[in-house]
Amino acid sequence: MSKTEELKKIKDEVIKISGDLADLRKKEKYFPVIGEGSHDASIIFIGEAPGENEAKTGRPFVGRAGKFLDELLASVGIPREEVYITNIVKDRPPKNRDPFPEEIALYAPFMDRQIEIIKPKVIATLGRFSMQYVMNRYSLDWELGPISNLHGKVFDTEIEGQKVKVVPLFHPAAAIYNQHLKSTLIEDFKVLKTLI
Ligand code: URA
Repeated sequence: MSKTEELKKIKDEVIKISGDLADLRKKEKYFPVIGEGSHDASIIFIGEAPGENEAKTGRPFVGRAGKFLDELLASVGIPREEVYITNIVKDRPPKNRDPFPEEIALYAPFMDRQIEIIKPKVIATLGRFSMQYVMNRYSLDWELGPISNLHGKVFDTEIEGQKVKVVPLFHPAAAIYNQHLKSTLIEDFKVLKTLI
């Protein structure tokens, strides 16, 4: 099966999933947000869960946080279409509440598969939920700490025998009203550029 076919299979499975977030998706006529970008991306960005704009369009990071993510990518000259952007949770939690652990457990295996299919060199996590999940999942649990200590650092791991770098970053939504976090994210993106 080609990468595109394997990724399409994930989409078909998420559409059929059952649970509270999937029920809300159907009730509100939302879309699941699977991910988008290059299937051969060397960087994969992992956010938390779709917000309203994302659920209405089926595309990740298209709202305010997405606009800032676009600016960050442009600031280091990385075209958005050359990376892959996804979230741990594929359906919108009501009122943008934090995802519950059981929701992360339900949706994260799809993200694990996306990583295994795309085989990126770098996994950039956006926010603490994806940082915690990815570091726990890929044998970096002993390095875990507050995101304020870990952001912009590069952690080496292996996925299916391939070397992968994990870079925790603050969530762009957290920086919208916080100039200090904005500058921090701009600096941390320069690190990403050195890794690809
Ligand atoms: N926040 C996220 O974590 N993901 C999105 O896709 C949009 C906002």
